Amino acid sequence: MAEEDQVVTVDQDLGVAEGARNLGYAHMSVESALGKTLYDYDSTMGRDLTLIMHLKLWLKVFKRLLRPSSLLWVSQNFNPPAPQRVKTKVLQRYAFLEGNWIETGTYLGDTTRFLAKTFPSARVTSLEPDFTLFSFNKSRLRKFQNIKLVNSASENSLDDLVSNETSTINLWLDGHFSGDITFRGQTLSPILEELQIIERNIPRLKVCVFVDDIRDFSGDEQTGYPSKNKLVEWANRNNCEWHIEMDIFIAKSRVW
Ligand SMILES: C[S@@+](CC[C@H](N)C(=O)[O-])C[C@H]1O[C@@H](n2cnc3c(N)ncnc32)[C@H](O)[C@@H]1O
Repeated sequence: MAEEDQVVTVDQDLGVAEGARNLGYAHMSVESALGKTLYDYDSTMGRDLTLIMHLKLWLKVFKRLLRPSSLLWVSQNFNPPAPQRVKTKVLQRYAFLEGNWIETGTYLGDTTRFLAKTFPSARVTSLEPDFTLFSFNKSRLRKFQNIKLVNSASENSLDDLVSNETSTINLWLDGHFSGDITFRGQTLSPILEELQIIERNIPRLKVCVFVDDIRDFSGDEQTGYPSKNKLVEWANRNNCEWHIEMDIFIAKSRVW
């Protein structure tokens, strides 16, 4: 489908629809989840704006590649956060090899890309509520047949995605506000809601759940970050082995 004719379905999230309209995708129809057309939009000026935004995001990707983050991490006594490539190795080490992947928070698409390349027979679904980041990744990751990008917050769409899985699934729960243009919902992190959704489905699924940035889990539920104990209780209640490695909480179903 030509980009000009693309239809973006959003989960009744008018904020996202507004974003699409502001970015001015030519001939783009933005529809709600119910199929009601919210906007038919036609603009060429908006295209230039989109191009500038995408160039800015590409610059960020290249900066990340050039930055000697590993050296910095070593010189700072291995204090978190670990560099991206160290974190992705943890995902690779503990995941169920036969499982599909769901990531919350695509951001620049680095981990999405890593997962699609490392697990070529898995379906990698990534949720990103920010429309600019979503459209950037649509373009950046277009070559990967096994990636599905969803322009929605996990509160709105994770339940559907998990419900559609039939046996084994790996979840990289990393969707939270992180400054800059990233999406900010009612709370900084939707992790409690995400864990509830997974728990409802767990009786029929084998899961490996990775929760990033565990150092931030201080127990101040106003921010959306529960205490680390809450995660441990969740793992025990759901018959998962758990441990923490490289600032990532890993809870894995005991193999039946
Ligand atoms: C730390 S970044 C994700 C990094 C990415 N997962 C990676 O490994 O490279 C957090 C992302 O989560 C997104 N986000 C914020 N709130 C969210 C929510 N409620 N549901 C899903 N994603 C969310 C932000 O827009 C941002 O792009």
